[in-house]
Amino acid sequence: MSDTKAVAMENDISVISEAARGFLRAEHRMLINGARVASVTGKTFPVIDPTSGHEVARVPSGDGDDVNAAVAAAREAFDGGPWPRLKPSGRERIILKLADLLERDAEEFAEIESVNSGRTLANTRAFDVDLSVDYLRYMAGWTTKIHGETFSPSVPYLPGADFFSFTLREPVGVVGAITPWNVPLGQAIWKVAPVLATGCTMVLKPAEQTPLTALRFSDLLDEAGVPPGVVNIVSGFGETVGATLVEHPGVDKIAFTGSTEIGQLIASIAAPALKRYTLELGGKSAMVVLADADPETCIPGTAMGIFGNHGQNCCAGSRLYVHRDLFDTIVPGVVDFARNIKLGAALEPTTEMGPLVSRGQQERVLGYIESGVNDGAELLTGGHAVQSTGAYVEPTVLGNVRRDMKVVQEEIFGPVLVVTPFDDLDDVVEQANATKYGLGASIWTRDVQQVHRLIPRLKAGTVWVNTHNVLDLAVPFGGVKHSGVGRELGAEAIRHHTELKTATIAL
Ligand code: NAI
Ligand code: MG
Repeated sequence: MSDTKAVAMENDISVISEAARGFLRAEHRMLINGARVASVTGKTFPVIDPTSGHEVARVPSGDGDDVNAAVAAAREAFDGGPWPRLKPSGRERIILKLADLLERDAEEFAEIESVNSGRTLANTRAFDVDLSVDYLRYMAGWTTKIHGETFSPSVPYLPGADFFSFTLREPVGVVGAITPWNVPLGQAIWKVAPVLATGCTMVLKPAEQTPLTALRFSDLLDEAGVPPGVVNIVSGFGETVGATLVEHPGVDKIAFTGSTEIGQLIASIAAPALKRYTLELGGKSAMVVLADADPETCIPGTAMGIFGNHGQNCCAGSRLYVHRDLFDTIVPGVVDFARNIKLGAALEPTTEMGPLVSRGQQERVLGYIESGVNDGAELLTGGHAVQSTGAYVEPTVLGNVRRDMKVVQEEIFGPVLVVTPFDDLDDVVEQANATKYGLGASIWTRDVQQVHRLIPRLKAGTVWVNTHNVLDLAVPFGGVKHSGVGRELGAEAIRHHTELKTATIAL
C-alpha cells in the first residue's frame, strides 16, 4: 500500500461546510408527530466517523415508548389526517418541493453522509443525494397515475342481471421502514418516496451506525409541507426500536433492507399477524465471464462490480467465474485494479475507497478473509487491515477457492472477491446458482444468443449483461430465494404500498 501513505486516513472535518459542521455539533432530535423530540428515556448513543473512530455526534436512543408514540402519530395521520385524503396532484407538489429542498442542501447532506459512513463525497453525492432527489421526483410523478381497472362481469349464474366492477389501489396504511447503513440516505428515501406517493404514513428507523442524514432530512419535511405524523423518524437499535416496530399492531406493513438473518426474523413475526412485508436482503452475486468477453470492458467492470461502495453492497459481484481461456487475462487485470485503488479518508479528494462503515464490519470482513485462507484459498492481493485508526480493509481477491468454503457461500459485505475458472457452461450456471442467495448476476459476453439462453437460467432478481450493479429508479429491484421478498423501485414499489380493492355494482 506504498502509494496510499501520502493520503490522510482520518477525515479533516474542518474542510466541510459550516452548515454540515453546525449540524454535527447540534443537539439531535427524532421526529414524532411533526415535533423534534429527545427519546423518552433521555438516552443517547454515539455516532462514529469510521475513518478515525472518533465520535462526531450523539443521537437519541429510541425505545419502545418512542416507537409507540411514533406509530400512534402515523396511525392518526393515516386514519384521520389530510395526507391520504389530499388530491394526488397535491401530494405531487409537496413531494416535488421535498426533492427541490434536498437538491438545495445536497452538498451538506453529502458531507454529513461521508463523515458518517466513510464513503467519498462523489459516492455519497451520487447515490445518497442525487439519486434520492431523482427518486422523489420519479415517485411524485406516480401520485397522479395510480389507478385500477374496469370490468364488465358476465356472472353466468344470474342471467339477466347486469353488473359493473372496478378496482381501486388504496394505500396500504402505516409502514414501518427499517434501513441499513451501506447507502444510508439513499436507502431511507427508497422507503420514504413510495410511502408519500401512495398516501401512506410511516415510521422510519435508520441504521444505528448511520442515523444522521435521516435526522437531517426531518428538517425538510415540514418545510416542504408534509403534514405532521406522516413521516416519523426514530433513531435507535434494531433489537429495541426495530423489533418494537415489527411487532406493533398499529403497523400495517414492514419495509426492510438488511441482513437475511433479520429478514427471516421479521417474516416470522409479521406472518402470524398477516402484516405485509417487503424484504430486500443479502446477496452473493455471480459475475460470469464467457470465453468471448471483451477484457477491456470486463476487467474494470467486474472490479467495480465488487469494489464499488467498498463491497458494502447487497448486489456486489462477490463471485467471479471466468472461462479458462480468459482466466489468466481477466484475473491479473482485476488484481491489478484492486492494488491500484487509492484508500484514504472519505473527505480527501484523491481517495477512491474509504473505510468500511465500522470497526465491527471491519472485523467481520477480516474474519471472512481469514476463514478463506484457513480453508486453503490463495490471497492474490489484499487481505489485511490498513494500519490506521479507521476501519479500512484492503481490496482483496481470493483464488483457489472451493464451492463449500464460507467465503464462496456467505455474504461478506466488504471488498472481497473470490475467483474461479470454468470450462463448461452448464457447470458454471450450476455454480452461479449454488448459494442460498438470488439477488443479482452478470454475464460478460459478446454473444447475443448466449445472453438470451443464460438470462432464464440464472436464479437472480436482476441479471446484468456486460455491466453490474446498474440500478434505475424506474426498473424494479429485489431478490429471489434468500435475497428477499417483493421489489423496490418502479411501478412495483407502488404495487407493494397499495392494497387492491374490488367494487361490484348491480346496474
Ligand atoms: P442488520 O440486518 O442487523 O441491520 C439492518 C437494519 O435492521 C438496521 O437498521 C438494524 O438496526 C435493524 N435490525 C437489527 N436487528 C433487528 C431486529 N431484531 N428487528 C428489527 N430490526 C432490526 O445488518 P447488520 O448487522 O448491520 O449487518 C450484518 C450483515 O448483514 C452485513 O455484513 C451484510 O452481510 C448484511 N447486510 C445486508 C444489507 C443489504 O443491503 N442487503 C444491508 C446491511 C447489512
Ligand atoms: Mg445485525
